[in-house]
Amino acid sequence: MSSNSTILVTGGAGYIGSHAVLSLQEKGYDVVILDNLVYGHRDIVENHLNVELVVGDTCDAALLEELFRSREITAVMHFAAYAYVGESVANPAKYYHNNVVGTLTLLEAMQRAGVDKFVFSSTCATYGVPETVPIPETHPQNPINPYGGSKLMVERILKDFDTAYGLKSVTFRYFNAAGADPYQRTGEDHHPETHLIPLILLTALGKRDAIKIFGTNYPTRDGTCIRDYIHVTDLAQAHVLGLEYLLNGGNSEVFNLGNGNGFTVREMIATAKEVTQTDFAVEETEPRPGDPAMLVGSSDRARNILNWQPQYADLNQIFRHAWQWHQLRHQ
Ligand SMILES: NC(=O)c1ccc[n+]([C@@H]2O[C@H](COP(=O)([O-])OP(=O)(O)OC[C@H]3O[C@@H](n4cnc5c(N)ncnc54)[C@H](O)[C@@H]3O)[C@@H](O)[C@H]2O)c1
Repeated sequence: MSSNSTILVTGGAGYIGSHAVLSLQEKGYDVVILDNLVYGHRDIVENHLNVELVVGDTCDAALLEELFRSREITAVMHFAAYAYVGESVANPAKYYHNNVVGTLTLLEAMQRAGVDKFVFSSTCATYGVPETVPIPETHPQNPINPYGGSKLMVERILKDFDTAYGLKSVTFRYFNAAGADPYQRTGEDHHPETHLIPLILLTALGKRDAIKIFGTNYPTRDGTCIRDYIHVTDLAQAHVLGLEYLLNGGNSEVFNLGNGNGFTVREMIATAKEVTQTDFAVEETEPRPGDPAMLVGSSDRARNILNWQPQYADLNQIFRHAWQWHQLRHQ
């Protein structure tokens, strides 16, 4: 289904948001991006996204008021947040302010403007240490850091806003977003970088000395942690399906988004060496506190209710796209 609706994408100059903008455009939606550019990339928006970029903050109520007053916005996709787990432990105020207060300010502006459809980036970090794997959406949510806590608070706000004001939302709890746009219009470029795939590829490019494996005695098939990686284009396409579900009158829902397949850190490194045809240094170090052995999600619900069909589930494909992007962006 295509539409002339304007969709406000917060954080649209960032990694996942910029892929969502491309997926929305492919389906005929008009898009406005709101991004404060703390981590977003103006050059990617200007060179490849061809949409309006409003540089501003979700905490700025007056700016939001003006945004909703001056445009026909039908729905909001909300990617804007801070997402560094370690930093959230050291500086929780920064995370609760940006991720909770910023989101609440946005939701209040939507309410005043009569916009009642919201797609939200939540995270598997809201589950905390898993009791069962693969993790279903019904798994208890006991986040072990302020980042996960901030996202869980927003999930709670969304429930209460639905009950009280009729705001309909789709919440996606992502596992690890990975890969890049197959046409290299955008990709991952976090500063600082903490995600495994870009760290491996930056090492393959010679920008880092070695890739560190944190812990080799976990109860997994090769002793290293297992994580679930989902191609960012598949993630973006799920957001369009979630949006259309709401535009068609769907009730508020929560969906995991993952591959359903976990890979160990050693498997990731081996795949990277194969795809990049590079042999780089690997350093084995102590496990990090709070890192669960295995985080893998069940995404059956998104497949069944949204009819979501990931196109790029293959790990080699994820690495190929990420490698093409990294060579272009970081060489
Ligand atoms: N990358 C992952 O694997 C992953 C996993 C789970 C959840 N998430 C969530 O997905 C979302 C996007 O993550 P990402 O990896 O694309 O991060 P990113 O940092 O690349 O993108 C976030 C964007 O939001 C902007 N931003 C932050 N706070 C803002 C504010 N108050 N007002 C306006 N703009 C603001 C940043 O400048 C940036 O462009 C985040 O909400 C994150 O918590 C990401």
